[in-house]
Amino acid sequence: TVLVVDFGAQYAQLIARRVRECHVYSEIVPPTMPVADMLAKKPAAIILSGGPASVYAEGAPRVPAGLFDTGLPTFGICYGFQAMVQELGGTVAETGSSEFGRTQARTGSGDSVLFGGLPGVQTVWMSHGDSVTAAPEGFTTTSTTDSTPVAAVEAPDRGLFGVQFHPEVLHTDHGTEVLRRFLEAAGCRRTWTMVNIVDEQVERIRTQIGEKRAICALSGGVDSAVAGALVQRAIGSQLTCVFVDHGLLRKGEVEQVEKDFVAATGAQLRVVEAQDQFLAALEGVSEPEEKRRIIGREFIRIFERTARELVAESDAAGQDVEFLVQGTLYPDVVESGGGNGTANIKSHHNVGGLPEDLAFDLVEPLRELFKDEVRRVGEELGLPHDMVWRHPFPGPGLGIRIIGEVTRERLDTLREADAIAREELSRADLDGEIWQCPVVLLAGVQSVGVQGDGRTYGHPVVLRPVSSEDAMTADWSRVPYDTLATISNRITNEVGGINRVALDVTSKPPATIEWE
Ligand code: XMP
Repeated sequence: TVLVVDFGAQYAQLIARRVRECHVYSEIVPPTMPVADMLAKKPAAIILSGGPASVYAEGAPRVPAGLFDTGLPTFGICYGFQAMVQELGGTVAETGSSEFGRTQARTGSGDSVLFGGLPGVQTVWMSHGDSVTAAPEGFTTTSTTDSTPVAAVEAPDRGLFGVQFHPEVLHTDHGTEVLRRFLEAAGCRRTWTMVNIVDEQVERIRTQIGEKRAICALSGGVDSAVAGALVQRAIGSQLTCVFVDHGLLRKGEVEQVEKDFVAATGAQLRVVEAQDQFLAALEGVSEPEEKRRIIGREFIRIFERTARELVAESDAAGQDVEFLVQGTLYPDVVESGGGNGTANIKSHHNVGGLPEDLAFDLVEPLRELFKDEVRRVGEELGLPHDMVWRHPFPGPGLGIRIIGEVTRERLDTLREADAIAREELSRADLDGEIWQCPVVLLAGVQSVGVQGDGRTYGHPVVLRPVSSEDAMTADWSRVPYDTLATISNRITNEVGGINRVALDVTSKPPATIEWE
């Protein structure tokens, strides 16, 4: 295990992912975690992440006390580098010359562990105000830039390394290689592979569930499908998958789960028809968090009811369904505030919306995984390509893509518009480039249009195509104008009540991907 100490601003997530891409398991921990607790996790190495603070600011996070006494190999990045230098007696100064974005770094020193053999000048991604002006005693300076006299240091005999730039971002030419070299120098074993993840999870699930029964909440999305397939592999017929048709689904979704998922996994599937129940519960509600709570609550009610029905039907009298399988991912856990006290941005319903008196124990086999890892696990388990690579879709479904009250008619409208956008993006071969493209119905907004010979007073939909690596941050996708034009034409021609199509050109942050 490599522990990534999170100094804030979401750099830690990306570092953890890159470490795992090097086949080494990594976990994010807060800087407030006592070193004794870190040691209990038996880490092979520590990485100190970047962060927004200045080491001089009051209350700025510090390197955990006693970390450098442990002798653990440690790699400081950006803020983590500065905090490390400060702790070990070097100098960090406000030089007045900050660097942001692409920068040329000289890394010519031939015998550097991190840079030896790489090009002597490379492009790196910088984002800092303060700079290190003197390395601590015993460290060699291995890189400089025009405005940063000490851009990287190392003391390989002590296993200590630091860089001012961000090796985890793709704009840094040899970033992953630099990270890989640190992991190698730290003696990390490369055991984090998909086969190992599957085997280990199957073992864990068997231990957790034993001879008991479980139900799995399928949403039609990748995460719950992979979670279900994993649990199916672990406990076979003790699992029943439940797919709730809550009426907030996209076109064709029920059919895909009924056909493809069952064919690939052999799982027992029960489709619960619950459109009326959800619509009734959502009547008159427009506040997003309220919608999420209601949808989460209705889901749980259905699972509890289904579990009782299963017990009633089964021959093995008294064999309760005690476990609920969910496809919760690592970023869900972190973003819902379950990680390190990070801000609660919105309650993703599979984490935040569970009632306190939940009648099940949760099985969350993907809780430690990032999306791309989940996809690779899905492939390893033999799920169909279309299912594994489909775009993410939120648990609360179209319910949080109608801005305003959710009604049957609005759902039908949005479903049609969404199907057109998906179809045209696929036709333009953009599925790989685009992370997802929510279509959002602004139900409370009306505008004037002219369609046929008459005046219309209809609603706009917003296209929200985004590119992202893990949904933690995202940029709006530069979809070709022609594709946008086709989507716009088709939606306004084919979907009644829509007379305007708008494009959302906001990144995340400051916006989120979904509108609610
Ligand atoms: P946001 O809107 O927070 O979305 O930028 C990040 C990613 O998460 C998806 N999302 C959800 N997924 N339950 C889910 O399973 C939810 O309640 C939920 N809300 C947002 C969203 O589609 C995007 O991929």
